[in-house]
Amino acid sequence: MTLREGLLLARAGDAAHPAAVAAFTRLAAEHGTPFYVYDAETIREQARSLLAAFGPRFPKLRVRYALKANTNVEIVRLVLSEGLAPEVVSEGEIRAALRAGAKGSDVLFSSSSKSPSEIDFSLEHDVLLNVDNLDELSQVSAAAVRRGTTARISFRINPGVDPDTLHQINTGCSESKFGVHLDGGIARKGYETAKSLPNVVIAGIHCHIGSQINDTVAYEEAARKMLAFVRELKEELGIRLSFVDLGGGLGIPFRDGGTGMSPEELAKALQSIWKEEISLLGYEPELWIEPGRFLVAQSGLMVARVNSVKTTPVKSFVNVDAGFNTLLRPAFYGAVHRVRVVGKTAAPMTLDVAGDVCETGDILAEGRLLPTPEAGDLVVFLDAGAYGFAMASEYNARPLPAELLVDGDEVRVIRRRGTFEELHRGEPGGAEVRP
Ligand SMILES: Cc1ncc(COP(=O)(O)O)c(C=O)c1O
Repeated sequence: MTLREGLLLARAGDAAHPAAVAAFTRLAAEHGTPFYVYDAETIREQARSLLAAFGPRFPKLRVRYALKANTNVEIVRLVLSEGLAPEVVSEGEIRAALRAGAKGSDVLFSSSSKSPSEIDFSLEHDVLLNVDNLDELSQVSAAAVRRGTTARISFRINPGVDPDTLHQINTGCSESKFGVHLDGGIARKGYETAKSLPNVVIAGIHCHIGSQINDTVAYEEAARKMLAFVRELKEELGIRLSFVDLGGGLGIPFRDGGTGMSPEELAKALQSIWKEEISLLGYEPELWIEPGRFLVAQSGLMVARVNSVKTTPVKSFVNVDAGFNTLLRPAFYGAVHRVRVVGKTAAPMTLDVAGDVCETGDILAEGRLLPTPEAGDLVVFLDAGAYGFAMASEYNARPLPAELLVDGDEVRVIRRRGTFEELHRGEPGGAEVRP
């Protein structure tokens, strides 16, 4: 069986299958632990499922990939090769998109806090600036005048829609820091001002209401509000837009038997609203969506090795050689990643999987019923391809993990493991890292 089949068996719950054991044992022996491993075909399948659901329903469609989920250039290249375009939140991500072969003019830049140099860099590369506020708008116009160029812009709208998701990843509610609010006429003022500013061309409109959303209701509400506003822009300000971006946020199933958001279900729910509103609007902009997690989360596994197992008077711990410096989501969001112990089925016991960071909060998985592990065993954290490596750090002076890409039976190192020298790059006398 191929390496990929080994990974898929572990994902499906059979990490004791000889093919799963062979795959993880080989990867760990060749590359050390901890590491992230991504399955290329899963990324392709996710991209294709979005295109298959939205393509036939929205002939004027653009699907983007939110690079923040996973910024590894090889992953970005893979996603873009499926026909997606980049959506980014920093100059570093613009650079990653360019390195992956994207044209600057295909990049959408959405940070809520852009520095003057990021605005300049965007203008230099003809990146579409998704403006967050009126102060930023005037800076963009001034920079474009100074450079003798034109800024293509959209506004990130805060539609005041509250999806049923975690507080930390709810971006569309009125209290969030993101975007120009529809409420209070701020968004309208933004477009009115943009129309009158020099060297600014209005291209579209954008919103992103949150992440890990498993229900279409909030998307429907956001779509209605956005399209009603698009109509107001046409009727009252004479502004026609070339795109309406409804953001990312599609949830994935983090638990066995979970469903997440089906692209079919979302596309279907949006189609009827879109049709209705477009007939009132009298012209059809492109529909854009920009998921991150949906495209890459399930493809990725984080693999660590057991250092020791201990039982206290209160509970039992399995100490592994990764921590919240490797996979931050459990400590940061209380996220639950399923855990598999490679090659074991016997004597299930309830355990906390504890990281190797010197912090009480460094628990990667809490109260899990797992086959009794022992030192040297490999443990696999599922659904770690999004916001996994991207949020990793070198806290506690631990080098960054390796990233591997599996395609069938091939494996490629797409980022080598960090080194102890790299921990000191940039320090006086520290090792400089050459690109
Ligand atoms: C503006 C924007 N678009 C898209 C995304 C992608 O979200 P997700 O990974 O949940 O699809 C994010 C993530 O927070 C975002 O901030």
